[in-house]
Amino acid sequence: MCGIVGFVGQEAGALPFIFDGLKRLEYRGYDSAGIALALPEGIVLRKSKGKITLLQEVLGSLPPGPCGIGHTRWATHGRPTDQNAHPHTDCHGEIATVHNGIIENFQELRDELMADGHQFSSDTDTEVIPHLLEAYGGNQDLVLAVRRAEERLKGAYAFLAVSSHEPDKVVAVRRTSPLLIGLGQGENYLASDFSAFLAATRRAVVLENGDLAVVTPTSYTVMDSEGHSVTRPEIEVDWDIAQAERGGYQHFMLKEIMEQPEAWSDCLLGRLDGDRVVVEELGLSREEWAAVSRIQIVAAGTAYHAGLIGKALIERLARITVTVDVASEFRYQDPLVEPGTLVIAISQSGETADTLACVRMAREMGRKTYAITNTVGSTLARESDDVVYTHAGPEIAVASTKAYTTQILVLSLIALALAEIRGMPRPDIVRGLREVPALGATVLSRMDPVKAFAQKLAQNRDVFYVGRGMDWALCMEGQLKLKEISYIHAEAYAAGELKHGTLALIEEGTPVVAVITETAIVDKTLSNVLEVKARGGEVWGIVAGQLPKNIPIDHRIDLPLAHPLTSLVLAAVPLQLLAYWAAVFRGEDVDQPRNLAKSVTVE
Ligand code: G6P
Repeated sequence: MCGIVGFVGQEAGALPFIFDGLKRLEYRGYDSAGIALALPEGIVLRKSKGKITLLQEVLGSLPPGPCGIGHTRWATHGRPTDQNAHPHTDCHGEIATVHNGIIENFQELRDELMADGHQFSSDTDTEVIPHLLEAYGGNQDLVLAVRRAEERLKGAYAFLAVSSHEPDKVVAVRRTSPLLIGLGQGENYLASDFSAFLAATRRAVVLENGDLAVVTPTSYTVMDSEGHSVTRPEIEVDWDIAQAERGGYQHFMLKEIMEQPEAWSDCLLGRLDGDRVVVEELGLSREEWAAVSRIQIVAAGTAYHAGLIGKALIERLARITVTVDVASEFRYQDPLVEPGTLVIAISQSGETADTLACVRMAREMGRKTYAITNTVGSTLARESDDVVYTHAGPEIAVASTKAYTTQILVLSLIALALAEIRGMPRPDIVRGLREVPALGATVLSRMDPVKAFAQKLAQNRDVFYVGRGMDWALCMEGQLKLKEISYIHAEAYAAGELKHGTLALIEEGTPVVAVITETAIVDKTLSNVLEVKARGGEVWGIVAGQLPKNIPIDHRIDLPLAHPLTSLVLAAVPLQLLAYWAAVFRGEDVDQPRNLAKSVTVE
């Protein structure tokens, strides 16, 4: 997820507009940024690693120009460096592009283009686009070249292209990743979201999937994927700029919850092939995975909870012993990490001090370390032997949501890859995973009962969460979400443990959230639910779609029908929304809860 901006208008307009737009989009990515202006004498390019303020320092005496594009990056392929920052250009500096999303088949295209003599200067997937445009005659007819290049590109993305031979237009393509045209007076804009141009105009056109747009200072035309000219409605946006940064949502947390289907599909992109996981996309070779005899997971907070689910998935599917430890504990327990153990560190930020300390310890012991992180170029990514990215895009709210569910997806991929390598392939689950993004959208469309429950819950002091197996691990995350943003006391229990103590706390009306996606042991969980009900507890169940209608709970939040081992990702959504709405009803500062930080870089 990155921010992209384009401008085409009058002399001197491009530079200030693009720079201002990038500042407004910085929340979408902030590891590097760049601007390219299309001038008749060639593309003028400035880019820099780091935040937009650093870009300002290298802009120098850039001529302002009437047409250009800009980008603020959240790295996916290639570390955050000056070279990897966008825009990228063709060999002759005549065509420039900025891109958001992932080009799945970039390696194949890059090999082909390099064989034809194209010179690449970055490690990004993006750079294949300007070279493809060059190969297809983009320096003569940019639109035609874009149409031809599009036929070759696989993935989910949006990009803008400009040419020094046609400095009166920006060509834009949308394939899944968002892209908008802003309509000005004698100038027009392009951006990945409204906030980039709201200071200049409120009139906009939302491009649809498959659209190609050609934008000039006074006109725009849109073609669909078949090449037919189409009309997209012009809309008037009434958001303020802060609201636009949040995609119109009240809080970043809600935006990030709602973004999950997109984040899930980005996370899975290129990693599934038919009924199989593409092992090469997971950071280690088949031989290296085959040599793993044990796994030790270390992580903190929400990432630790993802690790608990990873343990269950890997042990069940691949029959490899996995231990999971809280990083701040592991580092001081003189841990036993046997030879052959792969140490997996999970961290959204890749900067959590305790998690990093565990990786350094493991490396000193001579163990192989492997990172699951959302942040390319983070310390964890750099210091681990190998890394796989969750591709969730920047997460701004302190309470982690989409990073957590993408961590579970990556762990599912690892479990499936290991299972296949060890001779126990599970094509049924691979197929189930493929459906998860679409099912996520269904879950999100059915969340009204969760809001009603949250309103009730907001008046309580204590809430209990119960489940068995992976549902228990989900409950741990559910209760953490509720505590951290609503400040309601919440505890998660293995359902079977209730009668060993906690049942004493259940009174008439005590709210209990039961997560029931482990369908194989549903009777066991339900017998614990009955124990709660017998003491007057009011049970709210988050229930796998295939379970019968008449199970003995008071209120039911149904998940859509899904493979049992993928339902758990879906079940995370109502747990997140429950916490979110409870905090909203209590009037708390959802995105920045008291005493907590997004990234804990000190011990
Ligand atoms: C903080 C954040 C949590 C996060 C934890 C671990 O406590 O508030 O949301 O789960 O750190 O962070 P990491 O970046 O390592 O996943």
